[in-house]
Amino acid sequence: MTTIDATTLETFRQRRSLGARVSDLAAEIGFSPWQKLDKLIRHGLPAKSKQETVSVPIPIPRLPAEAFTSAYKPRSVADILGQPQVRAALQTFVASPRSSAMLFTGPTGVGKTSAALALAVELGCELDATGIGGVRVIASGEQTADSVRQALNQLYYTTLRGSGWKVIIVNEADRMHPAAETIWLDALENLPSKSVVIFTTNYAERLSDRFRDRCMTLEFEGARNALGVDARRLLAFVWRDCTKQEIPSRVADQIITEATDSKGVLSYRRLLQIAERELLTKGTQVP
Ligand SMILES: Nc1ncnc2c1ncn2[C@@H]1O[C@H](COP(=O)(O)OP(=O)(O)O)[C@@H](O)[C@H]1O
Ligand SMILES: [Mg+2]
Repeated sequence: MTTIDATTLETFRQRRSLGARVSDLAAEIGFSPWQKLDKLIRHGLPAKSKQETVSVPIPIPRLPAEAFTSAYKPRSVADILGQPQVRAALQTFVASPRSSAMLFTGPTGVGKTSAALALAVELGCELDATGIGGVRVIASGEQTADSVRQALNQLYYTTLRGSGWKVIIVNEADRMHPAAETIWLDALENLPSKSVVIFTTNYAERLSDRFRDRCMTLEFEGARNALGVDARRLLAFVWRDCTKQEIPSRVADQIITEATDSKGVLSYRRLLQIAERELLTKGTQVP
């Protein structure tokens, strides 16, 4: 006999909200009648008994408290998967950093934004100290002349927290307003000390030659052939972390195939989203 506790119930509540049937969930842990489980999911455990005794033949995954793409993102340059050339270039940069503009190109979901954030951390910026830790992210669609001017201004001030390095990350740089581009073109040639500006884009060809010439370009790989080995490692890690079990290789194959588009481009973002969905909706009984 084992117990059903509040955490398990919470996992079931999430899985039900994603479409899992309570009768299936009940069958999974041998709980009968399923209506009783439904009641527990809806109303929680009775106050006096914080645990309900049931037999649990199948382990229930324990998922992180945040989306998989947040929980399992690279925390340092060394953690960036499937991009050995990018990783090596960034490690060399961290060893002798200087003010620079960089352009991270490549398909979606292969680590461009994560790598920019990991680089900022390695330069000593504090990501948690919003606004004062040295990192500023300009979201796509917000690249007006004003937002660029504001961001550039901040490069001239000392940061309140962190090492003093300042990193501006501009996502989806191809969407920038022409007026914003003009300002960047001017500024990138004369960046203040301890300043790095990183542009990311899925469509490098949409940027002007003049703009690209001012940046050091790092190309991120997207081909399944190149990313597959690390994709499998990531899945194995996530699966073990959530279920304490090894991922069946058939399941890993299916997830990698689903995360690959018709052109053979694999997205780690999609891979994590699919793994999260599978663990939430089917538990360890995938598929
Ligand atoms: N190269 C990678 N190594 C490790 N995790 C990755 C990698 N690429 C993507 N991910 C995962 O996917 C999520 C989204 O990646 P992101 O860096 O936003 O991709 P992009 O900017 O290329 O679209 C990350 O938070 C991380 O969980
Ligand atoms: Mg991105």
